[in-house]
Amino acid sequence: GLVGQEEAREACGIVVDLIRSKKMAGRGVLLAGPPGTGKTALALAIAQELGNKVPFCPMVGSEVYSTEIKKTEVLMENFRRAIGLRIKETKEVYEGEATEITPHETENPMGGMDFINIEKTYHSFIAHLGLVVSCYGKTVSHVVLGLKTAKGTKQLKLDPSIYENLQKEKVEIGDVIYIEANSGAVKRMGRSDTYATEYDLEAEEYVPIPKGDVHKRREVIQDVTLHDLDVANARPQGGQDVVSIMGQLMKPKKTEITDKLRAEINKVVNKYIDQGVAELVPGVLFIDEIHMLDIECFTYLHRALESAIAPIVIFATNRGHCTIKGTEDIVAPHGIPLDLLDRILIIKTMMYTNEEMM
Ligand SMILES: Nc1ncnc2c1ncn2[C@@H]1O[C@H](COP(=O)(O)OP(=O)(O)OP(=O)(O)O)[C@@H](O)[C@H]1O
Ligand SMILES: [Mg+2]
Repeated sequence: GLVGQEEAREACGIVVDLIRSKKMAGRGVLLAGPPGTGKTALALAIAQELGNKVPFCPMVGSEVYSTEIKKTEVLMENFRRAIGLRIKETKEVYEGEATEITPHETENPMGGMDFINIEKTYHSFIAHLGLVVSCYGKTVSHVVLGLKTAKGTKQLKLDPSIYENLQKEKVEIGDVIYIEANSGAVKRMGRSDTYATEYDLEAEEYVPIPKGDVHKRREVIQDVTLHDLDVANARPQGGQDVVSIMGQLMKPKKTEITDKLRAEINKVVNKYIDQGVAELVPGVLFIDEIHMLDIECFTYLHRALESAIAPIVIFATNRGHCTIKGTEDIVAPHGIPLDLLDRILIIKTMMYTNEEMM
């Protein structure tokens, strides 16, 4: 726990409130004070206070100096780690207690080992192979599934890939299951509790039969950062499920995060925001030892802060008046250019008094 620094802590509390009420985006806070007065500790306390729904990206000023990556590229990447997006997707789901699972087989004229001519609806070669082997020359054309809820029943005719997912989850009649229509993903929730008295296996988890209709539209919320989207779209193989909604719209074959990719992502993000599908969650970029940045970085930061999608930036420094790095002789408070300083709320931390230290 923190002690002392009452005023700085109160100020940080106000900053947390402003961030929570979304009144802080695109603004800066500077924690300034002598070494060891708790600036880094306060910034981390702000992050903790905000909770894990608000992105927080910590970095140290000196991190921008790398031999491989441009200074502004390092800043840009961290900026995007600090900008969150809350995506609301409506998913079509089916849920209920399984009352019937009947695979319908069709004879495969070519025999069991030839899987070249069979159905083209399978999602992957592996899934395909598994089916052919398990059916010995027969292939499942569809599966009829009965589902029951407290409100009603429904009989569904489903794609064979879903039959395979049912098998993978070891779904039996009397199990309560959940199927996501878009992906065909099947989740076994447990055994329906109407079977609870019948055979009481200890390992079995009994769940109540779902309320409402078998077919539901469910709102699913995903929290991602712009950097997550950059990464997912730069490598289309991985991270696809993190952001399925983005995956549907963008099919880039890129392997690198480029400015062009970022611009494309921003365009889609803005469209989703306009449509009300997504909401921007400005997070916090914390740059410790800000005096390590040079004039080029400050110029970039200033511009990035003015963008429509900007995080809150918290700086910390233990320097008073000093020369701005990258300039010959421009002296400024905390080594920060005055025009940037104008946009920043300064919170001071004080040396501890003897009483406080006792
Ligand atoms: N008010 C406080 N209450 C409890 N612990 C504190 C307080 N202030 C600082 N500390 C502790 O003292 C140590 C130094 O604090 P911290 O690193 O936050 O200082 P700083 O202001 O960031 O210093 P520097 O300018 O050197 O970066 C840390 O271990 C921190 O947890
Ligand atoms: Mg520090």
